[in-house]
Amino acid sequence: MKLLITGGAGFIGSAVVRLAVARGHEVVNLDALTYAACLENVAAAAESPLYAFEQADIRDRAALDRIFAAHRPDAVMHLAAESHVDRSIDGPGDFIETNITGTYNMLEAARAYWVAEGKPEAFRFHHISTDEVFGSLPADPSVQFTEETPYDPRSPYSASKASSDHLVRAWHETYGLPVVLTNCSNNYGPYHFPEKLIPVVILNALAGKPLPIYGTGENIRDWLYVEDHADALLLVVEKGALGRSYNIGGENERTNLELVKTLCSILDAKRPKESGSYADQITFVTDRPGHDARYAIDPSRIRDELGWRPSVTVEEGLEKTVQWYLDNEAWWRPLQDRKGVGQRLGTGGAA
Ligand SMILES: NC(=O)c1ccc[n+]([C@@H]2O[C@H](COP(=O)([O-])OP(=O)(O)OC[C@H]3O[C@@H](n4cnc5c(N)ncnc54)[C@H](O)[C@@H]3O)[C@@H](O)[C@H]2O)c1
Repeated sequence: MKLLITGGAGFIGSAVVRLAVARGHEVVNLDALTYAACLENVAAAAESPLYAFEQADIRDRAALDRIFAAHRPDAVMHLAAESHVDRSIDGPGDFIETNITGTYNMLEAARAYWVAEGKPEAFRFHHISTDEVFGSLPADPSVQFTEETPYDPRSPYSASKASSDHLVRAWHETYGLPVVLTNCSNNYGPYHFPEKLIPVVILNALAGKPLPIYGTGENIRDWLYVEDHADALLLVVEKGALGRSYNIGGENERTNLELVKTLCSILDAKRPKESGSYADQITFVTDRPGHDARYAIDPSRIRDELGWRPSVTVEEGLEKTVQWYLDNEAWWRPLQDRKGVGQRLGTGGAA
């Protein structure tokens, strides 16, 4: 299968690129190379004859038309997006342009290509989205996000992703474009950009800096190992039912405080401090405005219809992740100099 993967130099996109090439798929990686991108993430895949790279911006429709015509993909996996909630609070404009207008451009370029090819039935436009479109859940563990949960986005990021999901469904209903959608929970793992919670905690711990926890640390997330997510995405693009959406979760709900304490105990075992525990560095900071209390995925559709389940628990995945950061300082060290990394963003003027 020839896959056009957008955002393939980012965190999740690069995991999809690596796995797709390893499984023998041809891959065209389309990425604008924003501050969040890193081509080292796909260095191994890039040596394969199955791999091609196109530096292009999804806001540039002419570039997209050229890339579709040049590569003639069997399917699109659309991951390119502005992805950091805190940055969306400080500057929502880029999120509107890339996540909404960019997705509109991708849909129109894909539709024009699909029509020009004679509307092949097997073509797929796979839109990758987030569980944040569903809003915030109460603590009650019996309540989870299903594919029928009404949309209730609450940050500029999640509102932009919700808008893009609606566009994708509309292009299916109105123009018959063959689409599939996925909404997943919080990812973590190797190559996670060092502005997100888990790499920030690991790298601040090693640097002897405070480990910032927003509010009281009681917010709950359902943690999904990025390589499990990539596996689920390839399954959905190949086997997902037309027009259907699938929620993808890690079956691993943890509070942020539990998560950070687990990271500290893994680090205590792997790289012990001279005295005390890394948990001594935990510091509670002003909460994010509009911070959603709980996200949790009901994964029964993807499990029952496609037979997919995550392969690791969060403790196993965190152990692999910590080891990866310990072994890959040459990857993360230069990224810490990129704009905004290491700074408190998205306080809405509150801190
Ligand atoms: N990280 C998560 O936990 C998570 C959870 C659910 C859903 N998602 C979704 O998965 C997708 C990938 O997320 P990620 O964490 O890998 O993001 P990321 O920020 O690590 O990577 C995004 C990539 O998109 C590229 N990009 C951004 N704007 C672009 C543009 N205008 N044109 C072309 N390329 C552009 C960037 O250069 C980067 O390589 C996003 O759509 C995101 O909404 C992420």
